[in-house]
Amino acid sequence: PVLVVDFGAQYAQLIARRVREAQVYSEVVPHTATVSEILDKNPLAIVLSGGPSSVYAENAPQVDPKLFETGVPVFGICYGFQAMARALGGAVEQTGTREYGRTDLSVPAEGGALHQELPGSHPVWMSHGDAVTKAPEGFTVTATSEGAPVAAFEDTERRFAGVQYHPEVHHSPHGQEVLRRFLHDIAGIRPQWTTSSIVDEQVTRIRAQIGDGKAICGLSGGVDSAVAAALVQRAIGDRLTCVFVDHGLLRAGERAQVERDYVAATGINLVTVDARERFLNALAGVTDPEEKRKIIGREFIRVFEQAERDLKAEGDYRFLVQGTLYPDVVESGGGAGTANIKSHHNVGGLPDDLQFELVEPLRALFKDEVRRVGTELGLPETIVQRQPFPGPGLGIRIIGAVDQERLDTLRQADAIAREELTAAGLDRTIWQCPVVLLADVRSVGVQGDGRTYGHPIVLRPVSSEDAMTADWTRLPYEVLERISTRITNEVAEVNRVVLDVTSKPPGTIEWE
Ligand code: XMP
Repeated sequence: PVLVVDFGAQYAQLIARRVREAQVYSEVVPHTATVSEILDKNPLAIVLSGGPSSVYAENAPQVDPKLFETGVPVFGICYGFQAMARALGGAVEQTGTREYGRTDLSVPAEGGALHQELPGSHPVWMSHGDAVTKAPEGFTVTATSEGAPVAAFEDTERRFAGVQYHPEVHHSPHGQEVLRRFLHDIAGIRPQWTTSSIVDEQVTRIRAQIGDGKAICGLSGGVDSAVAAALVQRAIGDRLTCVFVDHGLLRAGERAQVERDYVAATGINLVTVDARERFLNALAGVTDPEEKRKIIGREFIRVFEQAERDLKAEGDYRFLVQGTLYPDVVESGGGAGTANIKSHHNVGGLPDDLQFELVEPLRALFKDEVRRVGTELGLPETIVQRQPFPGPGLGIRIIGAVDQERLDTLRQADAIAREELTAAGLDRTIWQCPVVLLADVRSVGVQGDGRTYGHPIVLRPVSSEDAMTADWTRLPYEVLERISTRITNEVAEVNRVVLDVTSKPPGTIEWE
Protein backbone atom coordinates (compact mmCIF):
# COMPACT_ATOMS: atom_id res chain seq x y z
CA PRO A 1 0.00 0.00 0.00
CA VAL A 2 0.80 3.68 0.01
CA LEU A 3 0.93 4.68 3.67
CA VAL A 4 -0.44 8.04 4.75
CA VAL A 5 1.27 9.05 7.98
CA ASP A 6 -1.29 10.89 10.09
CA PHE A 7 0.17 13.92 11.83
CA GLY A 8 -3.09 14.62 13.55
CA ALA A 9 -4.97 16.73 11.06
CA GLN A 10 -8.39 15.76 9.83
CA TYR A 11 -6.91 15.42 6.36
CA ALA A 12 -5.21 12.02 6.53
CA GLN A 13 -8.28 9.99 5.57
CA LEU A 14 -9.07 12.39 2.80
CA ILE A 15 -5.54 11.99 1.44
CA ALA A 16 -5.94 8.21 1.53
CA ARG A 17 -9.16 8.56 -0.46
CA ARG A 18 -7.47 10.73 -3.05
CA VAL A 19 -4.60 8.26 -3.40
CA ARG A 20 -7.17 5.57 -4.09
CA GLU A 21 -8.85 7.81 -6.65
CA ALA A 22 -5.52 7.58 -8.45
CA GLN A 23 -6.15 3.79 -8.37
CA VAL A 24 -3.49 3.05 -5.79
CA TYR A 25 -4.42 1.29 -2.55
CA SER A 26 -3.62 3.29 0.57
CA GLU A 27 -3.90 3.07 4.34
CA VAL A 28 -3.54 5.55 7.19
CA VAL A 29 -0.93 4.94 9.89
CA PRO A 30 -0.39 7.03 13.03
CA HIS A 31 2.73 9.23 13.19
CA THR A 32 3.87 7.15 16.14
CA ALA A 33 4.55 4.21 13.81
CA THR A 34 8.27 3.46 13.73
CA VAL A 35 10.30 3.14 10.53
CA SER A 36 10.48 -0.61 10.96
CA GLU A 37 6.71 -0.88 11.52
CA ILE A 38 6.24 1.14 8.36
CA LEU A 39 8.60 -1.08 6.39
CA ASP A 40 6.78 -4.17 7.65
CA LYS A 41 3.82 -3.06 5.57
CA ASN A 42 5.88 -3.02 2.38
CA PRO A 43 4.88 0.50 1.39
CA LEU A 44 5.11 1.53 -2.25
CA ALA A 45 5.31 5.14 -1.11
CA ILE A 46 4.73 7.24 1.98
CA VAL A 47 2.68 10.41 2.23
CA LEU A 48 3.29 12.66 5.22
CA SER A 49 0.03 14.44 6.03
CA GLY A 50 -0.69 17.90 7.30
CA GLY A 51 -1.01 18.48 11.02
CA PRO A 52 -2.09 21.14 13.45
CA SER A 53 1.30 21.85 15.01
CA SER A 54 4.26 24.01 14.18
CA VAL A 55 7.37 21.92 13.56
CA TYR A 56 8.97 24.03 16.29
CA ALA A 57 6.25 23.50 18.87
CA GLU A 58 7.14 21.48 21.92
CA ASN A 59 6.11 17.84 21.39
CA ALA A 60 5.64 18.49 17.67
CA PRO A 61 5.60 15.11 15.93
CA GLN A 62 8.79 14.62 13.93
CA VAL A 63 9.78 12.48 11.00
CA ASP A 64 12.52 9.99 11.68
CA PRO A 65 15.29 10.91 9.19
CA LYS A 66 15.94 7.18 8.73
CA LEU A 67 12.72 7.06 6.76
CA PHE A 68 14.53 8.80 3.93
CA GLU A 69 17.23 6.16 3.80
CA THR A 70 14.86 3.29 3.09
CA GLY A 71 14.56 3.94 -0.63
CA VAL A 72 10.77 4.34 -0.34
CA PRO A 73 9.36 7.38 -2.24
CA VAL A 74 8.03 10.11 0.08
CA PHE A 75 5.55 12.92 -0.51
CA GLY A 76 5.09 15.63 2.12
CA ILE A 77 1.95 17.76 2.48
CA CYS A 78 1.76 20.98 4.53
CA TYR A 79 3.10 20.03 7.97
CA GLY A 80 4.54 16.86 6.44
CA PHE A 81 6.28 19.00 3.84
CA GLN A 82 7.89 21.12 6.54
CA ALA A 83 8.81 18.13 8.67
CA MET A 84 10.40 16.58 5.60
CA ALA A 85 12.32 19.76 4.80
CA ARG A 86 13.62 19.89 8.31
CA ALA A 87 14.60 16.23 8.50
CA LEU A 88 16.57 16.51 5.26
CA GLY A 89 18.47 19.65 6.19
CA GLY A 90 16.35 22.43 4.68
CA ALA A 91 15.15 25.47 6.65
CA VAL A 92 11.70 26.13 8.13
CA GLU A 93 11.00 29.53 9.65
CA GLN A 94 8.24 31.57 11.14
CA THR A 95 8.02 34.12 8.36
CA GLY A 96 5.26 36.12 9.97
CA THR A 97 2.95 35.72 6.98
CA ARG A 98 0.20 33.31 7.71
CA GLU A 99 -1.56 31.96 4.68
CA TYR A 100 -4.96 30.51 5.27
CA GLY A 101 -7.44 29.56 2.59
CA ARG A 102 -7.35 30.21 -1.13
CA THR A 103 -3.91 31.29 -2.36
CA ASP A 104 -2.38 31.71 -5.79
CA LEU A 105 0.42 29.31 -6.58
CA SER A 106 3.10 30.52 -9.03
CA VAL A 107 4.62 27.86 -11.19
CA PRO A 108 7.73 28.63 -13.27
CA ALA A 109 7.77 27.62 -16.93
CA GLU A 110 9.71 24.38 -16.32
CA GLY A 111 7.42 23.40 -13.42
CA GLY A 112 9.14 20.12 -12.57
CA ALA A 113 7.47 16.72 -12.62
CA LEU A 114 4.67 17.78 -10.25
CA HIS A 115 3.55 21.02 -11.84
CA GLN A 116 4.71 21.07 -15.45
CA GLU A 117 2.12 22.29 -17.95
CA LEU A 118 -0.26 23.37 -15.22
CA PRO A 119 -1.33 27.05 -15.40
CA GLY A 120 1.51 29.43 -14.39
CA SER A 121 -0.71 30.74 -11.65
CA HIS A 122 -3.51 28.68 -10.16
CA PRO A 123 -5.42 28.55 -6.88
CA VAL A 124 -4.51 26.17 -4.07
CA TRP A 125 -5.70 25.75 -0.48
CA MET A 126 -3.10 26.78 2.10
CA SER A 127 -3.12 26.60 5.88
CA HIS A 128 0.22 27.39 7.50
CA GLY A 129 2.07 29.76 9.79
CA ASP A 130 5.64 28.48 9.33
CA ALA A 131 7.19 28.24 5.88
CA VAL A 132 10.03 26.36 4.24
CA THR A 133 12.60 29.04 3.36
CA LYS A 134 15.31 26.79 1.95
CA ALA A 135 14.83 23.45 0.23
CA PRO A 136 17.10 20.61 1.32
CA GLU A 137 20.11 19.74 -0.80
CA GLY A 138 19.30 17.92 -4.01
CA PHE A 139 15.79 19.37 -4.28
CA THR A 140 14.44 21.73 -6.92
CA VAL A 141 11.89 24.36 -5.93
CA THR A 142 9.03 24.03 -8.41
CA ALA A 143 6.41 26.45 -7.07
CA THR A 144 6.11 29.50 -4.85
CA SER A 145 3.39 31.62 -3.29
CA GLU A 146 3.33 34.93 -1.52
CA GLY A 147 3.68 33.45 1.95
CA ALA A 148 5.70 30.41 0.94
CA PRO A 149 8.99 31.08 -0.86
CA VAL A 150 9.24 27.31 -1.23
CA ALA A 151 5.71 26.07 -1.94
CA ALA A 152 6.75 22.83 -3.63
CA PHE A 153 9.97 20.90 -4.10
CA GLU A 154 11.07 17.65 -5.63
CA ASP A 155 14.05 15.37 -5.99
CA THR A 156 12.95 12.95 -8.68
CA GLU A 157 16.24 11.06 -8.43
CA ARG A 158 15.51 9.94 -4.87
CA ARG A 159 11.75 10.02 -5.56
CA PHE A 160 10.97 12.63 -2.91
CA ALA A 161 8.59 15.54 -3.35
CA GLY A 162 6.29 17.77 -1.34
CA VAL A 163 3.90 20.71 -1.42
CA GLN A 164 3.05 23.34 1.16
CA TYR A 165 -0.60 23.45 0.08
CA HIS A 166 -3.34 20.84 0.49
CA PRO A 167 -3.67 18.98 -2.83
CA GLU A 168 -6.34 16.69 -1.34
CA VAL A 169 -9.08 19.30 -0.94
CA HIS A 170 -11.47 20.40 -3.67
CA HIS A 171 -10.30 24.00 -3.29
CA SER A 172 -7.03 22.96 -4.93
CA PRO A 173 -8.43 22.18 -8.40
CA HIS A 174 -5.18 20.68 -9.75
CA GLY A 175 -4.36 18.90 -6.50
CA GLN A 176 -5.54 15.48 -7.59
CA GLU A 177 -3.41 15.71 -10.73
CA VAL A 178 -0.35 16.67 -8.67
CA LEU A 179 -0.91 13.74 -6.32
CA ARG A 180 -1.39 11.44 -9.29
CA ARG A 181 1.86 12.63 -10.84
CA PHE A 182 3.74 11.91 -7.64
CA LEU A 183 2.29 8.40 -7.39
CA HIS A 184 2.47 7.35 -11.02
CA ASP A 185 5.32 9.43 -12.44
CA ILE A 186 7.71 10.08 -9.57
CA ALA A 187 7.10 7.02 -7.39
CA GLY A 188 6.45 4.84 -10.44
CA ILE A 189 3.44 3.01 -8.97
CA ARG A 190 1.12 1.27 -11.41
CA PRO A 191 -2.59 2.12 -11.00
CA GLN A 192 -4.24 -1.20 -10.20
CA TRP A 193 -6.75 -0.50 -7.47
CA THR A 194 -10.02 -0.78 -9.36
CA THR A 195 -13.52 -1.78 -8.38
CA SER A 196 -13.27 -5.16 -10.06
CA SER A 197 -9.94 -5.85 -8.37
CA ILE A 198 -11.54 -5.03 -5.02
CA VAL A 199 -14.39 -7.45 -5.66
CA ASP A 200 -12.07 -10.26 -6.78
CA GLU A 201 -9.77 -9.82 -3.82
CA GLN A 202 -12.57 -9.70 -1.26
CA VAL A 203 -14.35 -12.72 -2.71
CA THR A 204 -11.12 -14.71 -2.45
CA ARG A 205 -10.62 -13.60 1.15
CA ILE A 206 -14.19 -14.35 2.19
CA ARG A 207 -13.98 -17.84 0.71
CA ALA A 208 -10.75 -18.47 2.56
CA GLN A 209 -12.26 -17.28 5.84
CA ILE A 210 -15.64 -18.99 5.72
CA GLY A 211 -14.60 -22.20 4.00
CA ASP A 212 -17.72 -24.36 3.81
CA GLY A 213 -19.35 -22.67 6.84
CA LYS A 214 -22.53 -20.61 6.97
CA ALA A 215 -22.97 -16.91 7.60
CA ILE A 216 -25.68 -14.58 8.78
CA CYS A 217 -25.98 -10.87 8.05
CA GLY A 218 -28.18 -8.19 9.54
CA LEU A 219 -29.54 -5.95 6.79
CA SER A 220 -30.45 -2.43 7.84
CA GLY A 221 -31.59 -1.21 4.45
CA GLY A 222 -28.49 0.99 4.27
CA VAL A 223 -25.74 0.82 1.68
CA ASP A 224 -23.04 -0.78 3.82
CA SER A 225 -24.82 -3.88 5.03
CA ALA A 226 -26.41 -4.32 1.59
CA VAL A 227 -23.06 -4.29 -0.18
CA ALA A 228 -21.34 -6.42 2.48
CA ALA A 229 -24.06 -9.05 2.13
CA ALA A 230 -23.91 -8.98 -1.67
CA LEU A 231 -20.14 -9.50 -1.59
CA VAL A 232 -20.43 -12.43 0.80
CA GLN A 233 -23.21 -13.89 -1.29
CA ARG A 234 -20.99 -13.65 -4.37
CA ALA A 235 -18.41 -15.66 -2.40
CA ILE A 236 -20.51 -18.34 -0.68
CA GLY A 237 -23.90 -18.22 -2.42
CA ASP A 238 -26.90 -19.42 -0.46
CA ARG A 239 -24.88 -20.35 2.58
CA LEU A 240 -25.54 -16.74 3.53
CA THR A 241 -28.82 -15.76 5.18
CA CYS A 242 -29.81 -12.14 5.75
CA VAL A 243 -32.04 -10.93 8.56
CA PHE A 244 -33.96 -7.71 8.25
CA VAL A 245 -35.58 -6.37 11.40
CA ASP A 246 -38.63 -4.18 10.81
CA HIS A 247 -38.65 -2.11 13.99
CA GLY A 248 -41.51 0.08 12.82
CA LEU A 249 -39.25 3.15 12.74
CA LEU A 250 -38.58 2.83 9.02
CA ARG A 251 -39.60 5.30 6.39
CA ALA A 252 -42.33 4.63 3.85
CA GLY A 253 -41.35 1.94 1.38
CA GLU A 254 -38.10 0.90 3.04
CA ARG A 255 -39.10 -2.59 3.97
CA ALA A 256 -40.49 -3.18 0.50
CA GLN A 257 -37.29 -1.88 -1.03
CA VAL A 258 -35.25 -4.48 0.80
CA GLU A 259 -37.75 -7.31 0.39
CA ARG A 260 -38.40 -6.63 -3.27
CA ASP A 261 -35.57 -4.69 -4.96
CA TYR A 262 -32.70 -6.17 -3.05
CA VAL A 263 -33.88 -9.72 -3.31
CA ALA A 264 -34.70 -9.28 -6.99
CA ALA A 265 -31.20 -7.99 -7.69
CA THR A 266 -29.33 -10.59 -5.64
CA GLY A 267 -31.61 -13.58 -5.08
CA ILE A 268 -30.37 -13.50 -1.50
CA ASN A 269 -31.96 -15.58 1.31
CA LEU A 270 -33.89 -13.09 3.38
CA VAL A 271 -35.74 -13.44 6.66
CA THR A 272 -37.81 -10.45 7.77
CA VAL A 273 -38.69 -10.17 11.43
CA ASP A 274 -41.71 -8.04 12.22
CA ALA A 275 -40.82 -6.47 15.56
CA ARG A 276 -42.90 -3.32 15.29
CA GLU A 277 -45.01 -3.92 18.35
CA ARG A 278 -42.08 -4.86 20.50
CA PHE A 279 -40.27 -1.59 19.72
CA LEU A 280 -43.39 0.53 20.20
CA ASN A 281 -43.99 -1.00 23.59
CA ALA A 282 -40.41 -0.55 24.67
CA LEU A 283 -40.41 3.08 23.58
CA ALA A 284 -43.80 4.03 25.07
CA GLY A 285 -43.61 7.33 26.95
CA VAL A 286 -39.83 7.74 26.53
CA THR A 287 -38.71 11.24 25.56
CA ASP A 288 -35.00 11.36 26.43
CA PRO A 289 -32.90 10.99 23.25
CA GLU A 290 -30.15 8.90 24.79
CA GLU A 291 -32.66 6.64 26.47
CA LYS A 292 -34.46 6.14 23.16
CA ARG A 293 -31.23 5.24 21.44
CA LYS A 294 -30.31 2.74 24.15
CA ILE A 295 -33.71 1.08 24.07
CA ILE A 296 -33.68 0.79 20.30
CA GLY A 297 -30.16 -0.66 20.31
CA ARG A 298 -31.04 -3.14 23.04
CA GLU A 299 -34.30 -4.33 21.48
CA PHE A 300 -32.64 -4.72 18.12
CA ILE A 301 -30.04 -7.02 19.57
CA ARG A 302 -32.68 -9.11 21.31
CA VAL A 303 -34.63 -9.55 18.11
CA PHE A 304 -31.52 -10.36 16.15
CA GLU A 305 -30.36 -12.92 18.70
CA GLN A 306 -33.74 -14.61 18.57
CA ALA A 307 -33.56 -14.75 14.77
CA GLU A 308 -30.12 -16.27 15.06
CA ARG A 309 -31.37 -18.94 17.50
CA ASP A 310 -34.22 -19.74 15.12
CA LEU A 311 -31.76 -20.18 12.29
CA LYS A 312 -29.60 -22.55 14.35
CA ALA A 313 -32.11 -25.25 13.56
CA GLU A 314 -31.08 -25.03 9.93
CA GLY A 315 -27.37 -25.30 10.42
CA ASP A 316 -24.36 -23.85 12.12
CA TYR A 317 -24.21 -20.15 11.43
CA ARG A 318 -20.82 -19.44 12.86
CA PHE A 319 -20.04 -16.30 10.88
CA LEU A 320 -21.55 -12.86 11.18
CA VAL A 321 -21.21 -10.38 8.32
CA GLN A 322 -20.87 -6.71 9.20
CA GLY A 323 -20.57 -3.66 7.00
CA THR A 324 -17.78 -1.99 8.98
CA LEU A 325 -16.03 0.65 6.86
CA TYR A 326 -12.43 1.82 6.83
CA PRO A 327 -13.12 5.16 8.58
CA ASP A 328 -14.66 3.23 11.52
CA VAL A 329 -11.51 1.13 11.71
CA VAL A 330 -9.21 4.15 11.64
CA GLU A 331 -11.31 6.02 14.15
CA SER A 332 -11.61 3.23 16.66
CA GLY A 333 -7.82 2.86 16.53
CA GLY A 334 -7.03 6.48 17.11
CA GLY A 335 -10.01 8.24 18.56
CA ALA A 336 -8.82 8.39 22.16
CA GLY A 337 -10.26 11.18 24.24
CA THR A 338 -13.02 12.19 21.85
CA ALA A 339 -16.22 13.24 23.55
CA ASN A 340 -19.22 10.97 23.30
CA ILE A 341 -21.71 13.29 21.62
CA LYS A 342 -24.31 10.65 20.80
CA SER A 343 -24.39 6.91 21.29
CA HIS A 344 -24.46 5.87 17.66
CA HIS A 345 -26.28 2.60 17.89
CA ASN A 346 -25.54 1.38 14.49
CA VAL A 347 -28.54 -0.87 14.47
CA GLY A 348 -26.78 -3.82 12.98
CA GLY A 349 -23.98 -3.50 15.50
CA LEU A 350 -23.88 -6.23 18.10
CA PRO A 351 -22.33 -6.86 21.52
CA ASP A 352 -18.91 -8.49 21.85
CA ASP A 353 -20.12 -11.48 23.80
CA LEU A 354 -22.08 -12.81 20.85
CA GLN A 355 -20.54 -16.09 19.75
CA PHE A 356 -19.70 -15.26 16.17
CA GLU A 357 -16.66 -14.90 14.04
CA LEU A 358 -16.90 -11.60 12.21
CA VAL A 359 -16.68 -11.24 8.45
CA GLU A 360 -16.06 -7.62 7.50
CA PRO A 361 -15.48 -7.39 3.77
CA LEU A 362 -15.67 -3.57 3.68
CA ARG A 363 -13.07 -2.97 6.38
CA ALA A 364 -10.59 -1.55 3.91
CA LEU A 365 -13.05 0.60 1.98
CA PHE A 366 -14.35 4.13 1.98
CA LYS A 367 -18.01 4.89 1.36
CA ASP A 368 -17.60 5.93 -2.26
CA GLU A 369 -15.73 2.68 -2.96
CA VAL A 370 -18.48 0.71 -1.26
CA ARG A 371 -21.02 2.33 -3.58
CA ARG A 372 -18.95 1.45 -6.64
CA VAL A 373 -18.59 -2.14 -5.43
CA GLY A 374 -22.38 -2.27 -4.99
CA THR A 375 -22.90 -1.14 -8.57
CA GLU A 376 -20.32 -3.64 -9.81
CA LEU A 377 -22.26 -6.38 -7.99
CA GLY A 378 -25.44 -5.34 -9.78
CA LEU A 379 -27.31 -3.70 -6.90
CA PRO A 380 -29.97 -1.18 -7.95
CA GLU A 381 -29.30 2.57 -7.76
CA THR A 382 -32.07 2.94 -5.18
CA ILE A 383 -29.92 0.96 -2.78
CA VAL A 384 -26.41 1.93 -3.82
CA GLN A 385 -27.05 5.67 -3.85
CA ARG A 386 -29.14 5.72 -0.70
CA GLN A 387 -28.49 8.62 1.58
CA PRO A 388 -27.51 7.86 5.18
CA PHE A 389 -30.38 7.04 7.51
CA PRO A 390 -29.76 6.47 11.20
CA GLY A 391 -30.23 3.00 12.65
CA PRO A 392 -32.73 4.26 15.30
CA GLY A 393 -34.75 5.59 12.39
CA LEU A 394 -37.78 7.78 12.87
CA GLY A 395 -37.56 7.09 16.60
CA ILE A 396 -35.03 9.90 16.94
CA ARG A 397 -36.84 12.21 14.53
CA ILE A 398 -39.93 12.51 16.69
CA ILE A 399 -39.10 15.08 19.35
CA GLY A 400 -41.17 13.74 22.21
CA ALA A 401 -42.53 10.29 22.91
CA VAL A 402 -42.88 7.87 20.00
CA ASP A 403 -46.26 6.36 19.20
CA GLN A 404 -47.97 4.85 16.19
CA GLU A 405 -49.91 7.96 15.26
CA ARG A 406 -46.88 10.21 15.40
CA LEU A 407 -44.88 7.72 13.36
CA ASP A 408 -47.57 7.72 10.70
CA THR A 409 -47.62 11.52 10.61
CA LEU A 410 -43.86 11.76 10.27
CA ARG A 411 -43.73 8.98 7.70
CA GLN A 412 -46.19 10.83 5.49
CA ALA A 413 -44.35 14.13 5.75
CA ASP A 414 -41.01 12.45 5.13
CA ALA A 415 -42.32 10.64 2.06
CA ILE A 416 -43.51 13.94 0.57
CA ALA A 417 -40.21 15.68 1.21
CA ARG A 418 -38.22 12.83 -0.29
CA GLU A 419 -40.51 12.61 -3.30
CA GLU A 420 -40.13 16.31 -4.07
CA LEU A 421 -36.38 16.37 -3.52
CA THR A 422 -36.00 13.42 -5.85
CA ALA A 423 -38.30 14.98 -8.44
CA ALA A 424 -36.21 18.15 -8.33
CA GLY A 425 -33.08 16.10 -9.02
CA LEU A 426 -31.50 17.05 -5.70
CA ASP A 427 -30.69 13.62 -4.27
CA ARG A 428 -27.02 13.81 -5.15
CA THR A 429 -26.72 17.48 -4.15
CA ILE A 430 -27.79 16.97 -0.57
CA TRP A 431 -26.10 14.58 1.81
CA GLN A 432 -29.36 13.76 3.54
CA CYS A 433 -32.47 15.60 4.68
CA PRO A 434 -33.87 14.54 8.02
CA VAL A 435 -37.54 15.41 8.41
CA VAL A 436 -38.39 15.96 12.05
CA LEU A 437 -41.73 16.07 13.86
CA LEU A 438 -41.92 18.41 16.86
CA ALA A 439 -44.53 16.26 18.50
CA ASP A 440 -44.75 18.21 21.75
CA VAL A 441 -45.02 21.61 20.08
CA ARG A 442 -48.28 23.00 18.77
CA SER A 443 -48.91 26.24 16.95
CA VAL A 444 -52.00 28.03 15.74
CA GLY A 445 -52.83 28.11 12.08
CA VAL A 446 -55.72 28.72 9.75
CA GLN A 447 -56.87 26.37 7.06
CA GLY A 448 -60.03 26.72 5.02
CA ASP A 449 -62.25 28.70 7.33
CA GLY A 450 -61.06 27.20 10.54
CA ARG A 451 -58.44 27.56 13.17
CA THR A 452 -55.96 24.71 13.45
CA TYR A 453 -53.70 23.78 16.31
CA GLY A 454 -51.16 21.39 14.86
CA HIS A 455 -47.54 20.32 14.93
CA PRO A 456 -44.56 21.74 13.05
CA ILE A 457 -42.41 19.68 10.72
CA VAL A 458 -38.74 20.64 10.43
CA LEU A 459 -36.78 20.15 7.21
CA ARG A 460 -33.08 19.64 7.81
CA PRO A 461 -31.33 19.45 4.41
CA VAL A 462 -27.56 19.24 4.81
CA SER A 463 -24.48 19.13 2.59
CA SER A 464 -21.50 17.20 3.85
CA GLU A 465 -18.53 15.08 2.82
CA ASP A 466 -18.44 12.75 5.77
CA ALA A 467 -21.15 13.80 8.29
CA MET A 468 -18.47 15.03 10.71
CA THR A 469 -19.19 18.59 9.67
CA ALA A 470 -22.10 19.81 7.58
CA ASP A 471 -23.66 22.92 6.21
CA TRP A 472 -27.35 23.52 5.62
CA THR A 473 -28.20 23.16 1.96
CA ARG A 474 -29.55 26.20 0.17
CA LEU A 475 -32.49 24.47 -1.47
CA PRO A 476 -34.34 26.33 -4.23
CA TYR A 477 -37.31 28.27 -2.85
CA GLU A 478 -39.71 26.64 -5.35
CA VAL A 479 -38.80 23.20 -4.01
CA LEU A 480 -39.22 24.31 -0.40
CA GLU A 481 -42.53 25.85 -1.30
CA ARG A 482 -43.81 22.67 -2.93
CA ILE A 483 -42.75 20.55 0.02
CA SER A 484 -44.35 22.96 2.48
CA THR A 485 -47.62 23.24 0.58
CA ARG A 486 -47.95 19.54 0.11
CA ILE A 487 -47.12 18.61 3.70
CA THR A 488 -49.55 21.12 5.20
CA ASN A 489 -52.28 20.09 2.74
CA GLU A 490 -51.80 16.37 2.86
CA VAL A 491 -50.70 15.58 6.42
CA ALA A 492 -53.59 16.11 8.79
CA GLU A 493 -51.74 16.91 12.01
CA VAL A 494 -49.25 19.33 10.49
CA ASN A 495 -49.97 23.03 9.97
CA ARG A 496 -46.47 24.49 9.71
CA VAL A 497 -43.20 23.61 7.95
CA VAL A 498 -39.95 25.19 9.12
CA LEU A 499 -36.41 25.07 7.75
CA ASP A 500 -33.36 24.33 9.89
CA VAL A 501 -30.54 26.70 8.88
CA THR A 502 -27.90 25.54 11.37
CA SER A 503 -24.52 24.17 10.32
CA LYS A 504 -22.75 21.33 12.15
CA PRO A 505 -21.18 22.34 14.45
CA PRO A 506 -22.97 23.72 16.43
CA GLY A 507 -26.05 21.67 15.48
CA THR A 508 -25.76 17.94 14.83
CA ILE A 509 -27.42 16.61 11.70
CA GLU A 510 -30.14 14.74 13.56
CA TRP A 511 -32.19 16.53 16.22
CA GLU A 512 -31.68 13.84 18.82
P1 XMP B 1 -25.27 13.55 13.82
O1 XMP B 1 -26.69 13.73 14.20
O2 XMP B 1 -24.43 12.98 14.93
O3 XMP B 1 -25.27 12.47 12.67
O4 XMP B 1 -24.67 14.80 13.24
C1 XMP B 1 -24.17 12.16 11.85
C2 XMP B 1 -24.59 11.09 10.86
O5 XMP B 1 -24.86 9.86 11.53
C3 XMP B 1 -26.20 9.46 11.35
N1 XMP B 1 -26.63 8.93 12.63
C4 XMP B 1 -26.67 7.62 12.92
N2 XMP B 1 -26.43 6.53 12.16
N3 XMP B 1 -26.97 5.14 13.97
C5 XMP B 1 -26.60 5.29 12.69
O6 XMP B 1 -26.41 4.28 12.00
C6 XMP B 1 -27.21 6.17 14.79
O7 XMP B 1 -27.54 5.99 15.96
C7 XMP B 1 -27.06 7.48 14.24
N4 XMP B 1 -27.24 8.73 14.73
C8 XMP B 1 -26.97 9.60 13.73
C9 XMP B 1 -26.94 10.71 10.91
O8 XMP B 1 -28.09 10.39 10.13
C10 XMP B 1 -25.88 11.42 10.11
O9 XMP B 1 -25.75 10.86 8.81
